[in-house]
Amino acid sequence: MTIDSSIHQENAIPVGQVFDVDSRTGFMPPQPPIRRLPATWEEWEAMLDAAIAGGFKCGDAADLTEEDAERSESWRAQVRKMPVLPVNGALTSCPLLLRRGHLVLTFLLHYYVQTLPIDVPILIPRSIAIPVLRVSNVLDIPPLLTFSDTVLYNWEYKTAPSSANPDEGVEAPQLDNLRSQTTFSGLADEEEFYLCSARIELRGVEALELMRQTMDEMFVGDEIAVRRISAYLKTMAGVINELKTLLLDVRKQCDPERYYSLVRPWFRGEDSDMTKRKWMFEGVEEEQDLSPPRELSGPSAGQSSIVHVLDVFLGVDHQSKNSDKPSFMSRMLTYMPRNHRLFLKHLSANPRPLRSFIVSAQDEELLDSYNKAVLALKEFRDAHMIIATLYIIGPARRAARAAMAGAAQIDSGAEPTPPGKAGEPLKGTGGTDLVKFLKDTRNRTGATMIS
Ligand code: HEM
Repeated sequence: MTIDSSIHQENAIPVGQVFDVDSRTGFMPPQPPIRRLPATWEEWEAMLDAAIAGGFKCGDAADLTEEDAERSESWRAQVRKMPVLPVNGALTSCPLLLRRGHLVLTFLLHYYVQTLPIDVPILIPRSIAIPVLRVSNVLDIPPLLTFSDTVLYNWEYKTAPSSANPDEGVEAPQLDNLRSQTTFSGLADEEEFYLCSARIELRGVEALELMRQTMDEMFVGDEIAVRRISAYLKTMAGVINELKTLLLDVRKQCDPERYYSLVRPWFRGEDSDMTKRKWMFEGVEEEQDLSPPRELSGPSAGQSSIVHVLDVFLGVDHQSKNSDKPSFMSRMLTYMPRNHRLFLKHLSANPRPLRSFIVSAQDEELLDSYNKAVLALKEFRDAHMIIATLYIIGPARRAARAAMAGAAQIDSGAEPTPPGKAGEPLKGTGGTDLVKFLKDTRNRTGATMIS
């Protein structure tokens, strides 16, 4: 498969260096990201090694012992003593180092925040606060863990590819030849959660190529072009079906209960804090070039560009009707790598070109192929709701029941109240009222089909 890096016409799919979209790996970098920062920043890496080796539990873990709390506090004390390492030209001029810097600092940040006791204020020490704000400013993404840290820039080969000749180019990794570099829990369940998304990114590359071909043909717009577009859209429906299978396959190696209680809590951002504590970045007011962040939502695969691209291409409109508040989907753009965000903006500049083309072509076969592709995306979202139910809604209900039974307040056999029924609605890591939100995005996708 080849994807030309030039922009064929105004609305073409612009794949290439300028948008960091690779013809083999799409939104993932074509080579495994670097594993360790150079010596200048070794203290960050060493502190991350210590946290991983420490096997820490979150501050609100049901089975947290006094000894667990002391061990994580002794690690946090070391973090507080760590000097503020420089974010200098050597780091900022090298995108690979910057990405690794963001990954290391945001893993440190989440370890720090989530191991704190739940009744103390969240004050992120200067040693993490200042560099993470600086690195994030340069990358133009928020100073907390994002999908790019857990998935896009967090992989390596299980087995290095045979072709070692750099002139021959790098092979895209096979979907079963991936490993994650960094995890919080060390559990295969966490790794599988990240790799499921990575596989979707890689498999989605064919969809990008089909989009490019479709747009080229739309530019021509004759009878042959209509036949070709129809064929591309049918193939695209098949690719999206495979994305759905890859999503459902997460169940093979990621256990819902372990995911819910041992993996997911590490991802919480400021807007998922149970006691609504603010994240304070120590020393930020003393630095002229820095300001406190405005919003901090934890990482969500809602930040995956491939799903957004499919929406834009097929003409699914997720824009918020309430103009004061940006939609979740547009909020998530700000958490994506800047060039991917620009890529999406470029595509959205001419909204729904494919959909209008289908409407005006009045060709039955073309319409049918388009609807099949939209239906496949709707079915991807149906599957996604099954996954969210299995991995979040179900375990949250069981945890609420167990907590209430444990509190021994049920003496008459009354049914405990599951979360989302009487209390606040259940939140996604991206801070949404997840049940309503996922249903809405699914319904908006279905409504995009043309009758
Ligand atoms: C165990 C696996 C997964 C769970 C439990 C899960 C859960 C969720 C939740 C709760 C949301 C609501 C937004 C928020 O975070 O507040 C969400 C949004 C989203 N997720 Fe997932 N997700 C999983 C895997 C994936 C994967 C592998 C992808 C694809 C790369 C994906 C793509 C999306 C997208 C695009 C959204 C935005 C809403 C939409 O487009 O329908 N998710 N997810």
